[in-house]
Amino acid sequence: MNKKSVTEGRRAVITIRGLKKFFGKNHVLNGFDMDLYEGETLVIMGKSGSGKSVMIKCLIGLETHDEGTINIMGRNMENVTEDELNEIRTEVGFLFQGSALYDSMTVRENLEFPLRRHVEKMGHFSDATPLVLEALESVGLAHAIDLMPEELSGGMKRRVALARTLILRPKIILYDEPTTGLDPITSKEIVLLMKSVQQKYKTSSIIITHDVDCARFISDRMILLVDGINYAEGTFAELDASTDPKVQAFFKS
Ligand SMILES: Nc1ncnc2c1ncn2[C@@H]1O[C@H](COP(=O)(O)OP(=O)(O)OP(=O)(O)O)[C@@H](O)[C@H]1O
Ligand SMILES: [Mg+2]
Repeated sequence: MNKKSVTEGRRAVITIRGLKKFFGKNHVLNGFDMDLYEGETLVIMGKSGSGKSVMIKCLIGLETHDEGTINIMGRNMENVTEDELNEIRTEVGFLFQGSALYDSMTVRENLEFPLRRHVEKMGHFSDATPLVLEALESVGLAHAIDLMPEELSGGMKRRVALARTLILRPKIILYDEPTTGLDPITSKEIVLLMKSVQQKYKTSSIIITHDVDCARFISDRMILLVDGINYAEGTFAELDASTDPKVQAFFKS
C-alpha cells in the first residue's frame, strides 16, 4: 500500500509494535503493529470479536498486554508511573460504545466530573460553567446544560459523552464504535460532528467502526485487523480497490 504519501513527514503520536494479547488459549492479538500520526483520523475495521476493543483497552492501560510495545507521545506504556498514566489519560480521550452518562447527574454535572478529577491539568477554577458551555457548544447542545440524561435522546447522549471527553482538551481521541445503535440519520450527524471536532481541535483520532460509509467519509487512513494482526493498511480508496478477498470482504457489504 502507498503508506508514504499520506504519512510522510508526520510525527507518530502512538506507535504499537508486535502487540500480543491472549485470554487463555484465545490468541486475540498476534503481533499487531500500528502508527497513529499527528492530526490524522485513522479508522480501524475488523470482524466482530477480532480484538479491536481489546487493542484499545491495552492502549490506554485498561488491559495488560502479553507482549509487544506501546508508545504514546514518547512514553512507553510498559514502564509508566501511576502519575504518568494519569497524565496520559487526560491527553487521550476515549469514547466507548454506550459511553454511559451518570444518570443521577445533570448534563452540567456529568461534564464537571472529569474536570474535578483532573484539576492539576485544568487548573483551579471557581466556576466551571464557561468550560462546560464551550464543550457543549462544540457538540451543539449548550441548551441542554441543565437536563437530566433521561431527558435526552440516544444521539444527544452520545453528543454529551463526546463533550465530556472534549472538556479535558485531549490531543488524541479514541472512538470505539461511536455510531453503533443509532439510526442512520443520527449516525450521520455523529460522523459529521466527529469531523468538525477534528477540524476545530486538531486532534489525532482512532475510530473503530463497522460502518463503511463512515470510514469512507472520515478516514485519512485505515487499518484492517484480521487474525490478530494489521492485515492491510492504506487509504479508503486503496483498500477498496484491493483484490485480496479478505480485504474485499469489508467493502462488499
Ligand atoms: N476480559 C476478557 N476475558 C476473556 N476474553 C475476552 C475478554 N475481553 C475480550 N475477550 C475476547 O477477546 C476477543 C476480542 O474481543 P473484542 O471485544 O476486542 O472484539 P471486537 O473486535 O471489539 O468485537 P466487536 O466488533 O463485536 O466490538 C473476543 O473473543 C472476546 O471474547
Ligand atoms: Mg468492540
